[in-house]
Amino acid sequence: MHAVLALETSCDESAAAVLSCGDDGRPEVLASRIASQVAEHARWGGVVPEIASRRHVEALPGLIEAVLEESGLAPRQLDAIAATVTPGLAGALMVASVTGRTLAALHQRPFLGIHHLEGHLASVRLADASPEPPYLVLLVSGGHTELIRVDVTGSMDRFGRSHDDAAGEAFDKVARLLGLGYPGGPAIQKAAEGGDSQRFRLPKGRISLPGGGFHPYDFSFSGLKTAMLRTVEALQKVEQPLPVCDLAASFEAVVADVLVERSLRCAQDHGIGELVMVGGVAANQRLRTLMQERGRHLGVSVSIAPLAYCTDNAAMIGAAALERLRNGACETPLTTGVAARCPLEDASRLYQGQPAF
Ligand code: KG4
Ligand code: ZN
Repeated sequence: MHAVLALETSCDESAAAVLSCGDDGRPEVLASRIASQVAEHARWGGVVPEIASRRHVEALPGLIEAVLEESGLAPRQLDAIAATVTPGLAGALMVASVTGRTLAALHQRPFLGIHHLEGHLASVRLADASPEPPYLVLLVSGGHTELIRVDVTGSMDRFGRSHDDAAGEAFDKVARLLGLGYPGGPAIQKAAEGGDSQRFRLPKGRISLPGGGFHPYDFSFSGLKTAMLRTVEALQKVEQPLPVCDLAASFEAVVADVLVERSLRCAQDHGIGELVMVGGVAANQRLRTLMQERGRHLGVSVSIAPLAYCTDNAAMIGAAALERLRNGACETPLTTGVAARCPLEDASRLYQGQPAF
C-alpha cells in the first residue's frame, strides 16, 4: 500500500488531499479539501496572480492540517509528499512547491513534483470504473484543449490541439461579453439551461491545411469568440435586454458539438475504442451527456473524470503521484523550482533525479 499527501496551488484554487492505493493500483481519496478564491477574483473579472499567491499562503497550512487529520495518517506514514510544480502562475505554484519540499525535508519523506496536466489526466482514475490505456484523452481546461493518445506504456502522442484560445478560456471570455461574470463555464452552463441552443448559427472554427482542406482534429475558438461579439453588437441595436440565455445556449452547444465531433472522429480514425475526458470544461453537463450519447452510438466507450475532480483539485495530483510511485519513479530533487510553462511530454523529467528547472 502507498499513501501520499498532495498539494495544488497552480491557479486560483488552494487544495490538499491524502490518497492511498492498494496492490490493484486503484487510488482512494481519504481526504480532499479545496479553498476557492473564485469570489475574490470575480471582482476583477479574472485571476489576479498577486492575490492568488497571497491567498494560497493563507489557506494551504489549514487545508493540510485538515486532510491529515481526516485521513488519520501522520506524516511519517506517508510514502511521499507531492505538489504541482508546473505549469501555472509561477508565484502561485511556488506556494505548494515550497510547502511540499519543506514538509518532505522536515519529515524525511520523498518529494514528487507533479505536472498539473499529468494530474488532470490521472483524475479519471478517481472514477468508480476507470479504463486502462491505450486510450485517447480529450483534455479540456482553462489553459488547454488537447487530444492525446496514451499507450500501454504510458507514453503520449498529441493528435490535436487548439491553435488559439483553450475551450475554457473561450467560455470565460464569452461569459464576460454576456455580463455573466467569472468563472465563465459554470455561469454559461446555468444561463444556457433556459435558452434556445438553435437560435444563433455560430462557426465551428477549423484550421486550414497548407495543401488544402482542414485539420481533422485541431481546434480554433477565436473565430467563434468574434462571431459572438458581432452577434451581440448586432442584437444590441434591435433587442433589449439581450437574449443572454439563447446566446449562452447557442455558444455552449457549438463548443460541445465541435469537441465531441473531432474527439470521436480522432478515436475512430486511429482505431481507439476508449475515450477519456478530463479538465475543468469536462464538468460541463451538456458536453458530458453529448460525449456519452455519441460515443455509445459510434461504439466508442467514454469515461469522464468525476464531476468533483474536473476543475482543479489536489486529489488528481495525488492520483498522478501514486501512479509515479507504482512505476518506481525517482523522487524529485528538493532543488527543483517551478516553471510557468512546460509541455506535458516533459513531465517525466521531473522524476529522473536531476532538477528539471
Ligand atoms: O481545469 P481547470 O480548473 O483549470 C485549468 O487547469 O485551466 O479549468 C478551469 C476552466 C475555466 O475556464 C472554467 O470556465 C471551465 O474550466 N469550466 C467550465 C465548467 N466548469 C468549469 N466550462 C464549461 N462548463 C462548466 N460547467
Ligand atoms: Zn487545471
